[in-house]
Amino acid sequence: MTNQLLAAKAITAKALAYAPYSKFNVGAALLAEDGTVYTGCNIESAAFSPTCCAERTALVKAVSEGVRVFKAIAVTGGRDGGDYCYPCGVCRQMLYEFGGDNLQVIVAKSEEDFRIHPLSELLPYGFGAKDLEG
Ligand code: THU
Repeated sequence: MTNQLLAAKAITAKALAYAPYSKFNVGAALLAEDGTVYTGCNIESAAFSPTCCAERTALVKAVSEGVRVFKAIAVTGGRDGGDYCYPCGVCRQMLYEFGGDNLQVIVAKSEEDFRIHPLSELLPYGFGAKDLEG
């Protein structure tokens, strides 16, 4: 799975975003260790706080199917193309739970224009299972 292809899958997933309130559509494509890709979009609520980000939609789909180890996630979104869409803090924390420091986060404006960061760059000194050991 190339970074381009993963970005393309995130862009396709963005088309399913349900974001009538913010009009900020986001798509994500999460690459599992076995090569399977789980996609997600943001899903908003009129009550606002139940809103689920695209990244967490993809993660919840995968984990609820028994998949827990991931290599990369591509994220794309914005109102009109716009700028790179970085995962929010809650999504960074949830990605850390299953991806750890080395998960590759591909922040894509398009299939050709993307940046790659290890999750440790977006969530330095992450709090995780290791901190609850002992
Ligand atoms: N959103 C995501 O889906 N992922 C992010 O990482 C940033 C924010 C969504 C949530 C909400 O539906 C909209 O974008 C505006 O915040």
